[in-house]
Amino acid sequence: MLAAIAFALPELGAAQDDDRAELSAESAEASAESAEANGTHLSGETLFLVCAGCHSLDPANAELVGPHLAGIVGRQAGAVDAYPYSEALAGAAFAWERNLLFSWVVAAESLVPGTHMLHHSHLEPAEVFRLIDFLESAARPGNHER
Ligand code: HEC
Repeated sequence: MLAAIAFALPELGAAQDDDRAELSAESAEASAESAEANGTHLSGETLFLVCAGCHSLDPANAELVGPHLAGIVGRQAGAVDAYPYSEALAGAAFAWERNLLFSWVVAAESLVPGTHMLHHSHLEPAEVFRLIDFLESAARPGNHER
């Protein structure tokens, strides 16, 4: 949203009347959303693209920088056998419940100091919850297309 506002401001300054201002704000927001997965209307699946560069949902895919996230909701932290976790995450003694995933996505380093996940997302809280919904639904058998 912040990005959308920053994007819209120059447009708004140039607009002559309210209708035009509204229209350019809308189109500016649309372009900001497609430019970076940061808008309020994106699906959890689309928001996952923020993570997909480093995480697969397929347990067979060990090519990426991060561990696979198949069945991550309820999964033990640091539990993918073949994955070289940081000591911090390998030693974590909790399972990934929704509220912990939320804290992790917002500030991984605060939840598990010393983690190797350096990603800082700029998602809004509602978007993080949609993303977690998607991770949860993607883990159900036969539900991979969602
Ligand atoms: C730049 C790469 C990168 C991005 C982007 C990224 N991660 Fe990670 N993630 C990692 C790495 C590396 C680890 C392993 C951290 C460690 O060992 O300390 C990790 C670990 C995790 C874990 C712990 C898994 C486990 O087995 O305990 C979760 C959950 C997770 N990431 C979720 C996400 C989500 C959700 C997103 C998108 C919002 C995301 N990550 C984006 C690199 C990334």
